[in-house]
Amino acid sequence: MRLTSTALLFLLLVSCNALALKPQLLGRHTVQTDSHHRSVSYKTFYFDQQIDHFGFLENGTFKQRYLLNDQHWHKEGGPILFYTGNEGDITWFCNNTGFMWDVAEELGAMLVFAEHRYYGESMPFGEESYSNAKYLNYLTSEQALADFAVLIKALKKTVPGAQKSSVIAIGGSYGGMLAAWLRMKYPSAVVGALAASAPILQFIVPCGEFYKVVTHDFNISGTNCSSNIRRSWAAIDRVSETGEGLQWLSQEFGLCSPLKSPEELKAWLQETWVNLAMVDYPYEANFLQPLPAWPVKVVCANLKFDTGVSDKQLLNGISKAVRVYYNYTGDASCLNTSQTATGNLGFLGWYYQSCTEMVMPMCTDGIADMFEPQPWNFQAFSDDCYNLFGVRPREDWAEIVYGGRNISDHSNIIFSNGNLDPWMSGGVTKSLSKSLIAIMINGGAHHLDLRYNNEYDPESVITTRAQEVHYFMKWIKQAAFD
Ligand SMILES: *[C@@H]1O[C@H](CO)[C@@H](O)[C@H](O)[C@H]1NC(C)=O
Ligand SMILES: *[C@@H]1O[C@H](CO)[C@@H](O)[C@H](O)[C@H]1NC(C)=O
Ligand SMILES: *[C@@H]1O[C@H](CO)[C@@H](O)[C@H](O)[C@H]1NC(C)=O
Ligand SMILES: *[C@@H]1O[C@H](CO)[C@@H](O)[C@H](O)[C@H]1NC(C)=O
Ligand SMILES: *[C@@H]1O[C@H](CO)[C@@H](O)[C@H](O)[C@H]1NC(C)=O
Ligand SMILES: *[C@@H]1O[C@H](CO)[C@@H](O)[C@H](O)[C@H]1NC(C)=O
Ligand SMILES: *[C@@H]1O[C@H](CO)[C@@H](O)[C@H](O)[C@H]1NC(C)=O
Repeated sequence: MRLTSTALLFLLLVSCNALALKPQLLGRHTVQTDSHHRSVSYKTFYFDQQIDHFGFLENGTFKQRYLLNDQHWHKEGGPILFYTGNEGDITWFCNNTGFMWDVAEELGAMLVFAEHRYYGESMPFGEESYSNAKYLNYLTSEQALADFAVLIKALKKTVPGAQKSSVIAIGGSYGGMLAAWLRMKYPSAVVGALAASAPILQFIVPCGEFYKVVTHDFNISGTNCSSNIRRSWAAIDRVSETGEGLQWLSQEFGLCSPLKSPEELKAWLQETWVNLAMVDYPYEANFLQPLPAWPVKVVCANLKFDTGVSDKQLLNGISKAVRVYYNYTGDASCLNTSQTATGNLGFLGWYYQSCTEMVMPMCTDGIADMFEPQPWNFQAFSDDCYNLFGVRPREDWAEIVYGGRNISDHSNIIFSNGNLDPWMSGGVTKSLSKSLIAIMINGGAHHLDLRYNNEYDPESVITTRAQEVHYFMKWIKQAAFD
């Protein structure tokens, strides 16, 4: 996605671990978590990883954090479900991947959640990790995959009983991409992978697809909803033209600080609608923000206006709609246009990754989608990246290194997608072989299948989870006979 002020303002807080740690696997503390009335507990470990797996000059190491729970693990041969951490604090993904906790007992599985380098506490150069392009140079998906493969080997070697355990990679979103790629690149490390809402084709699909899905969600969630959002952009421009326009808008939206330009408001709104589409879950949830059930419907209830409505009436509706996302709890004293999601995600790191190898072209045309027309401009994107990080993206690298659509020779990967999730646009939505399985979750938003069971789950996600477990068992059985 294009760079916004969010990227520039995000400050990564790094807690540098000063403890002298053994070069191996060392337990620190146990955390008790209660998420959706379920108790989640894990031990935290730190593992010495090579900063550079692919060259020999940089020989330093860093502490990679991972979380482990073995309360249900059958020590002789029970599988290891291995979460391939994505762009954020691993404890947050651990809290939000209830599926693994729900199936651990049934599978007799050990759970491991491995943090991605440069996020959370896993900082290759401590507090300096983000300070310059030289230190950021080791933030790549290839290095992260190598971290996972090395960690898996070490776990098997050092945890008594784990030698015989089959490892299954599980991840959602970018973590899902990593799960799929781990199976492709290191097939001896994992017997299979569940890649939930993993847009591994986002690099090569037409740039307008993503925002079309966002628009579709709003279109089906209320009368005139997407058309009124489409009309709001020009309304914001017209209102801003008047002397007190920006001030009126700042007040109407309850903003923390006065708007400097209409673009600031529009960029923030656009990101808000995207996030809402991603987390359009069928029950009250708190993933990016605390939200009601089917939040897009709740948003759209404020946007049913007919054509006759005035700009200010329309924008009043938009301001109510946006509060569904930012003030569902009623605790917000003002709305902050520099913030659109949880602080547990490492935005700066993700921007760096999209500015190097994870180039995902995005565009809008205002016709097939509800946004202002904005073509994809690789050169402008590259210039932004250069100004921000001093590096330029390599547009084709992801396709070359991970194979684009030509992945049918791989095996044992489930690609699950929700039809409400904008990232479905870059997902594998058709099975590619008997063991590269695509599952579409009707009524599902961003990796709904990875969340805890919930009484409001649609039938589609219940079936999907059962299928996923079925494949896990099949892969484990297969591996036992190899
Ligand atoms: C790492 O590299 C430095 C500088 O080249 C060298 O002095 C040191 O001995 C190396 N350490 C190891 C463990 O190879
Ligand atoms: C995970 O959940 C626990 C308990 O609900 C909470 O204390 C902790 O802050 C959560 N971690 C994150 C990163 O959200
Ligand atoms: C919205 O849905 C209507 C039918 O309900 C359809 O005619 C229209 O093309 C859709 N618009 C978009 C932008 O998807
Ligand atoms: C709102 O919907 C009604 C009927 O569904 C339609 O007649 C009207 O043109 C729509 N207004 C806008 C602004 O799309
Ligand atoms: C958030 O909701 C509370 C309770 O309804 C309200 O008092 C407060 O003004 C709202 N904040 C904003 C910024 O709208
Ligand atoms: C708005 O969000 C930014 C970025 O998270 C933060 O630095 C700033 O303090 C926030 N402003 C207010 C008034 O909360
Ligand atoms: C990928 O496969 C398609 C269809 O099999 C083929 O047309 C295309 O040339 C292949 N691309 C590459 C890069 O191998």
